[in-house]
Amino acid sequence: MAATIALNLPTNPYQIQIDGGNIDRLGEKLAGLKIGTKVTIVSNPSVFGHYGDRAVKSISQSGFEVIECILPDGEEHKNLRTIEQIYDRAIASKLERSSTFLALGGGVIGDMTGFAAATWNRGTNFIQVPTTLLAMVDASVGGKTGVNHPQGKNKIGAFYQPKLVAIDPDVLQTLPAREFRAGMAEVIKYAVIWDADLFDRLLNHPQLSNIEDLAPEFIADILTRSCQAKADVVLKDEKESHLRGILNYGHTIGHAIESITNYARFNHGEAVGMGMVVAGRLAAALGLWSKDDADRQDLIIAKAGLTTHLPADLDLEKIVHLTHSDKKVEAGKVRYILPSSIGYGRKIGDRIATKDRQTILNEIGREVEDNEIINVLRSM
Ligand code: NAD
Ligand code: GLY
Repeated sequence: MAATIALNLPTNPYQIQIDGGNIDRLGEKLAGLKIGTKVTIVSNPSVFGHYGDRAVKSISQSGFEVIECILPDGEEHKNLRTIEQIYDRAIASKLERSSTFLALGGGVIGDMTGFAAATWNRGTNFIQVPTTLLAMVDASVGGKTGVNHPQGKNKIGAFYQPKLVAIDPDVLQTLPAREFRAGMAEVIKYAVIWDADLFDRLLNHPQLSNIEDLAPEFIADILTRSCQAKADVVLKDEKESHLRGILNYGHTIGHAIESITNYARFNHGEAVGMGMVVAGRLAAALGLWSKDDADRQDLIIAKAGLTTHLPADLDLEKIVHLTHSDKKVEAGKVRYILPSSIGYGRKIGDRIATKDRQTILNEIGREVEDNEIINVLRSM
């Protein structure tokens, strides 16, 4: 069941290694890389409480000096003040440029550790050990690192690739169920935009919301296929100048829903799930893909325990208004990523894999209007 995916970027090639028990093999994995003698494990009290001892034991048994840097848990701590705590620890521990920062945690820890690694001494070795489903299939792969600014999420950041992504699927057993479902939203995203086989596997599986009822082989398969999809896209467009934008499928409306509810009511995956329903139905309404495809996508989203309905109290006009301040705005127009057919991306490679603004404009001869989005939102 072990899988290795090579992300062979010309300047920073690295592997994504997926296997049960990897937490206990971190030391031997690091020993095979040129990463100095000191490893700072950055984590939070919850994840470190579960897996810290095993990670420290494995890494120190391979001869590394291990430094622990435990940060407070939560998105509200993903900011420059917390990054300073990592720098302070690095100074106190006399970390050199050849030393290593290792992220043990979800996307919050991974993004912050990567940013600290990118900036400490102008670039220090970086290892990702993601522990949420979302971080395994998305945040740990591809080198986006950063922190939030009071004026916006992920406003401060850098592209900085890790030297290794080591995934241990067994750690998902302690992940809260809601976090697992959030990660499934990103798995479904890859199925729609990139991998038709993954889409069929998700569609044909009886349920997708409870990890206890999912066979380890099935979990390993969806992790491998999702990481492969992300690696394929990042390899073709590391710095998001064209293709990588398709990874934002479902995110335009998703971000607006997160924002309108002050990031407190829905987590990212729940909002992206609703965003994909909107994008799918909009694509069907515009004749870009079939209603049947949109319905099958919605079925998978529901099977993952994510909602396909918008709560009645949300202000639909305000949601659409917020999409105009999204970072995906292009020439003043909202850049929706709309699907053309299930898993089309892999088939056509680095040409436009899903419909971007220009392709939609070419096909329907006009911009998508706000009232068309509102009509879709009303249908939910
Ligand atoms: P998270 O890192 O906040 O983790 C969610 C919760 O799960 C936390 O309370 C954490 O302590 C807990 N947890 C983590 N692993 C656990 C485990 N195995 N067992 C028990 N509890 C565990 O949330 P997330 O969803 O992993 O990450 C969200 C962040 O990722 C956001 O800040 C987002 O911006 C970022 N992100 C980055 C990228 C990227 O490409 N860099 C992509 C997507 C998301
Ligand atoms: N999560 C989107 C990206 O990595 O580009």
